[in-house]
Parts: sequence; C-alpha cells; structure tokens
Amino acid sequence: MANKKPNMQILPDQEALAQRCLELVLKTAKDAIDTNGIFCMAISGGQTPKRFFELLSADQQSLSFPWDKVHLFWVDERYVPPDSKYSNYKLAADTFLKKVPLPKENVHPIPTKNKDFNKSAREYEKTIRSVFKIKPGQKPQFDLIMLGMGSDGHTASLFPNSNACFDTNDIACVVYLLDQQLPDEMVNRITLTHPVLCDARLLAIIVSGEEKAPILKEVLETDPEDIRYPIHLLWPAIDRSIWLVDSPAAKLL
Ligand code: 6PG
Repeated sequence: MANKKPNMQILPDQEALAQRCLELVLKTAKDAIDTNGIFCMAISGGQTPKRFFELLSADQQSLSFPWDKVHLFWVDERYVPPDSKYSNYKLAADTFLKKVPLPKENVHPIPTKNKDFNKSAREYEKTIRSVFKIKPGQKPQFDLIMLGMGSDGHTASLFPNSNACFDTNDIACVVYLLDQQLPDEMVNRITLTHPVLCDARLLAIIVSGEEKAPILKEVLETDPEDIRYPIHLLWPAIDRSIWLVDSPAAKLL
C-alpha cells in the first residue's frame, strides 16, 4: 500500500516550530474547552518539546489560559524517580509545570514508584479511566497527543521489535528494551498503547533537527512496516494527525 502523505507543516527552525506547537495547543485546548468544558492532553518527553514547554510557561497567551480545565497526562515515561534527569515528568516540571496555574489534581504523571512495573501501568490506567469516566475495556479519547519520533522510527515508547508494538488490549503497558546502547535508566518504560494513540482527536508529531532527516524521509517513503518503524502504527490515524517539522529535519524530503 503506497504511503498516504501525512498533513505536514514545515517551519524554518526550532523556535518557529516551538511557536507553532504553542499555537496548536492553545487553539486545540480552547476548542475542546468551548465544546466539552475540559481539555485532555498527553505529552511526550525527549529533547524536541523542550522549547515548546518553555514557551508554555513564558508566553502571555499561555499564562492567561484556563488551566483549571486542562488535564495533563504523559505519553510515556522512563521507569525512574520523578526527580531523575531521565524523567519525562521532570522535564515538564522544570520547564513549565511549576510556572503555570495547572491544578495539581489535574496533573497525572505515570507512576514509577512500584517495584512491579505492571502495577504502575495498572495504576496509570485507573487514573485515566477515572478522568475520562470510562469503564474497563473502553479506551480514552484524548483531545491532543503530542509525539516525537526517534532516529529509529519509534514514537512514544513503541520501539522497533518491542513488545509494546503488539499490545492492543491495554491503555498503557510496560516496555522492556533490550537496547544496550541506552543507559539503564532508559530501558524500562511505561507507554500508552498504539490503539490509544490512534484514538486521539488530534495527533501532533513533532520532528526537529538534521539528525532526523534520514528517518523522516525513510518512514514517509517506505510502505508501512509497523514493527520496523513503529511510527507507522499511527497510520490508521493519519487523517487526524499533523506533522510539525523544522527545515533541518525536512531537508531530504
Ligand atoms: C521519550 C519520548 C520519545 C521521544 C523520541 C524523540 O521518552 O524519549 O517520549 O518517544 O519523543 O525518542 O526524542 P527526542 O525529542 O529527544 O529526539
């Protein structure tokens, strides 16, 4: 099946990309709150969203935003304490969470305190079901899920050949990476599953930097191969996705 082309916007540089992310989030959130009185968003970690997160806490529009109607979740988390430098929660806490009036009870980090990783995954699912008011077996529909893409074509913690690529029953699952290239703190993860990602009203995939140019070209020009390029697991939601890419990452397109 030839690849359908995703809806893509190319921004001149990282700063413009971060500004565009902010604009998208504020608009999507306003629409959701106007319609349903609540905005549920899941964010990723890694380096790409850092500048956008900083704008969330610095931009005037963002600071006057109805944060009391926002519920914030994480797409995935490394299985480390929340104060670890590897923690996706810490990245958000340090860049915007401590500076915006988002009620503490509306912030839903992925638990990483249990010795049994699966217990944490189940706790996270319980929180999600409670906020979305859904029963076991039902899936949450996030208003917006913000994703990155790794140089190996992974997204969230859906890594090539990982168990997570096959999990279609859970809302969140544990991922055990056998990749020896990663530090120990990054090899055990909890992630939202791809059916949950694909159910989002809107998926924003953010890609930045020259080092992502080869993989971006590869995933867009290769027929879908979900296990080799887990970003292809999002193809069922391609019509509800927007790719925000800076020029260095888009240079081979
Ligand atoms: C994580 C992220 C992951 C990230 C990609 C891209 O926990 O690392 O959720 O999926 O989005 O690895 O990472 P960069 O933005 O650092 O390139």
